[in-house]
Amino acid sequence: MNSLGRLFRVSIFGESHGPSIGALVDGCPAGLALEEADFAADLARRRSGARGTTPRRERDLPRLLSGVFQGRTTGAPLLVAFNNEDTDSSSYREVVHRPRPGHADLVAHQKHGGFADWRGSGHFSGRLTVALVAAGVIAKKTMPKVRISARVIEAGGQGDVEKALAEAERAQDSIGGVVECQVEGLPAGLGEPFFDSAESLLAHAAFSIPAVKAVEFGAGHGVARMRGSEYADAILNARGRTATHHAGGINGGLTNGNRLVVRVAVRPPSSSASELSTVDLRSGKRVRMVPKGRHDRCVALRVPVVLEAAVAMVLADLMVLEQRTPRVPRGRRGSKR
Ligand SMILES: Cc1cc2nc3c(=O)[nH]c(=O)nc-3n(C[C@H](O)[C@H](O)[C@H](O)COP(=O)(O)O)c2cc1C
Repeated sequence: MNSLGRLFRVSIFGESHGPSIGALVDGCPAGLALEEADFAADLARRRSGARGTTPRRERDLPRLLSGVFQGRTTGAPLLVAFNNEDTDSSSYREVVHRPRPGHADLVAHQKHGGFADWRGSGHFSGRLTVALVAAGVIAKKTMPKVRISARVIEAGGQGDVEKALAEAERAQDSIGGVVECQVEGLPAGLGEPFFDSAESLLAHAAFSIPAVKAVEFGAGHGVARMRGSEYADAILNARGRTATHHAGGINGGLTNGNRLVVRVAVRPPSSSASELSTVDLRSGKRVRMVPKGRHDRCVALRVPVVLEAAVAMVLADLMVLEQRTPRVPRGRRGSKR
């Protein structure tokens, strides 16, 4: 379902053109200083406006509706919600009968028996990632010593993002990209050896970001071409510091206390000015279509802060599970009013 995490558990809700979107964070430790202004910096990093992003303009003003009292988290479920303000559903009517290839239109229609909200991709929209970013802000707050940073390292198959965007604009097409996230300051031992390995949990969260089609850690796919002597990260001291990061900061499913490195491949969006082939569901005939609406030319540009959020949610949960983050500030349990 739409929830992830065991103790620090995030659920997201909303549709692209519905009244609101948001995140419910259950199990958030009590006593964290939290106010609406704390969300501004990360929300600004996800917002559209830069070259290659959609012309849709949302103010993304967060409303903390539950779980915060007198500026501190209470330990009760925390609800943060956003209004959708700049919606225009007029150009999406066509996708009801002519689903965009490569998009969720057809599978959403099949799964939900035709009831799925098709306006702006409904619940499948990248707009939902505003809720992930909000949950990520809260997750990051629970781990003040952990530093998470992501960036685009490649777009359209090259390191020069501006050049890739210019080429895509000339071709009137969309492009994909690669986003890398690095985490510093983690303790060793987060995760479990098998099903709940740190890689499994992080990949689960990363694949929840729409348009992410591959996830890799450290040397990633490159490990298949390495020799063992090259792959093994030399251990430099008894705390386990390593000289290299081929393992991506995870051994045996557990964080090893070194820099964690995770990369995601982000596909090009289906919606571009190019003609695509689909089927008209009324006639059953094959047709050509140009998806309408306002779209990102390169989704990857907006993904870094979303990937940080997905990573932060998983790590925040593991930090509570491993009792590295107390659910109530130390020395405050049972304290008088
Ligand atoms: C921040 C963000 C913005 C997105 N913007 C668009 C967009 O403008 N047009 C589009 O077709 N897809 C966009 N997507 C991707 C779609 O939501 C996604 O490709 C679609 O739901 C199908 O899912 P899939 O790619 O995981 O199969 C965006 C994704 C993200 C994370």
